[in-house]
Amino acid sequence: MTAAADPLLAPAVRRLARRVFAGESLFRPERLTVWGPAAESPAVPAETRPQAIPAVGQPAGLTEEESLAATAQDFLVVDADATGEWPTPEDVFPRLTWGGQLLLVTRDRDRLDQVAQRYARHDCFDLETPPAPARRGVRFWAPRRHHALIRRVTLLAPGQHTDRSTFDVRLVRDARLGPGYVVRKQVPTHRRVAKRLHERFPDATPDLLLSRATKLVSKVFPVFLTREAGFLSVLAKELPPEYRDRVPRALGMEKAPDGTVKRLYMTWLRMDRAGMSQLDFALQATELLAAVHDAAKVVHLDLRLDNMIISEGRVCFIDFGSSVQVGENISRNPMLHSLFEEMMNTSQIQRTMGRMKRSGRLTSDILLSAHGKMDRAVDMFYLALQITHPVSNPELRHLIDYQKGSATAKAIKGLVGEILRPPDPERPRLISAADVHGALVSLSATQATSRRRRGRR
Ligand SMILES: Nc1ncnc2c1ncn2[C@@H]1O[C@H](COP(=O)(O)OP(=O)(O)OP(=O)(O)O)[C@@H](O)[C@H]1O
Ligand SMILES: [Mg+2]
Repeated sequence: MTAAADPLLAPAVRRLARRVFAGESLFRPERLTVWGPAAESPAVPAETRPQAIPAVGQPAGLTEEESLAATAQDFLVVDADATGEWPTPEDVFPRLTWGGQLLLVTRDRDRLDQVAQRYARHDCFDLETPPAPARRGVRFWAPRRHHALIRRVTLLAPGQHTDRSTFDVRLVRDARLGPGYVVRKQVPTHRRVAKRLHERFPDATPDLLLSRATKLVSKVFPVFLTREAGFLSVLAKELPPEYRDRVPRALGMEKAPDGTVKRLYMTWLRMDRAGMSQLDFALQATELLAAVHDAAKVVHLDLRLDNMIISEGRVCFIDFGSSVQVGENISRNPMLHSLFEEMMNTSQIQRTMGRMKRSGRLTSDILLSAHGKMDRAVDMFYLALQITHPVSNPELRHLIDYQKGSATAKAIKGLVGEILRPPDPERPRLISAADVHGALVSLSATQATSRRRRGRR
C-alpha cells in the first residue's frame, strides 16, 4: 500500500473529506492524500503535489528517517469501498505526521465500527470522530456512506525509542483546557526509563539500573518539568506580545503530592508543511533568541534543532526544561546544583563547545569563558552552529531550504565564522543574539540589493 495525492478520490468522498478537514489550519485541498494500492495510482501532475512532500519514494540525499518525515501526511483518506482494503494502525503510523489525521470512509458501517475501535484501543491513535453517517449526496438511492476520523497522537510507535527526547509527549483533548488538541508532556514511566538505560549501559547490573531509573523518574525529571512550567509562565509574562505564541503557553498541570509537576499541558505549535529559506530561518531564530534573552531574561541551554518548530511560517522554541534565569544562582539549592552540573558535563552542546575549543575552531573569548557555564553565550554559540547547518532534526530538515555551497549558505558560514573566531578574539564584534540578528539583517539587505542590481542588468 502507498499514499498518493487526491485525484484518485471519488468526488463524493473528496467533498466529504474537504468538509471534515475544513477547520484544520494546515488543510489545503491539494494536501488531501488518498490511501490506495500503488499499482492503481495514476500519475499525479507535479504541479498539484505539495512542494515539500513528494508523493512516493525517498527524496535524494535524505536519510530514511528524514524521508519518512518529509513524506508523512497530515490528511490521509481511505475509501475502503474503492480499495477493498483497510490499512492497519501499524501501516498508517509512519505515513501520518504527529497530529496527522486519517479519514475512513465506507458504506460498510459494521466493518467501520470494528476498525474504528481497533484504532481507538491503539495507544498511538485517538478516535477523534466516532463512526457517523455522511450527508446524502444527489444519488440518494445509493447505500449511505459512513466515516470516522482518527488522529495520530504519539511521537513514537510502541517499542520505538529515540535519543532526541526523553519525556512522554502526546496530543490530548480535554474540554477543560479548551477546544482541540494540546500537548501533554509528562514524566516517562519507570519501565521506559529502565529500558532506555539498559540500552545505553548494557553492562550495568539490574540493581543499578533500577535505582538510577527510580531516581530519574521520582526526582530528576519532575524537577525539570516543574522548572519548565515556571519558565513558560515567565515567557508568557515577559516576552513582548509579538513573540509570545512562538513558545508554548502552559494551559494546566498536575502535581505530585510533593508539589512537583508530573504532567504539563501546553499549546501545540504544529509543524508546518511549507518551508522557509535558510536566511529566513536564521533571521527568525536569532530574533526570537534575542527576545528570550533580553526581554524574558531566560537562557534556554538546549537549543538543538529538535527543540525548534516551524509553525505558521514562524520559527518557535520549545523544551524550556533545562533553562535558567539570567544570573540565577543554582548553587543555593544543592540538588539543582548537582543536576545542572551533571547536565553541563553530559550535554551535547557543552561537549561540542569543548571539542571546538580544543581544536582551535572556537577562539572568541566571550564564548570560551562561557564553556561549562549557564550563560547566554552558550545559546548564541549553539544557535550559530544550527543556522549554519540546519539539518539535524528530521522533521525540520525538509522545511529549511539549505543548499550547501550556495551564496546564502556561504555568507551565513562566514558570519558564524566571525562569531566563533573573531579577528580580535578578545574583542568580538558579535557578542549577543541581538548582535547576530542585526548582522543577519544587514546580510539580507545586501543580498536583496545585489538581486535587484542583477535584475536591472
Ligand atoms: N508545544 C509543543 N508543540 C509542538 N511540538 C512539541 C511541543 N512540545 C513538545 N513537542 C514535540 O515533542 C518533542 C519532545 O518534547 P520536548 O522537547 O519538550 O521534550 P524532551 O525532548 O523529551 O525533553 P528533554 O530535552 O529533557 O529530553 C519535541 O521535540 C517536539 O517534537
Ligand atoms: Mg526536546
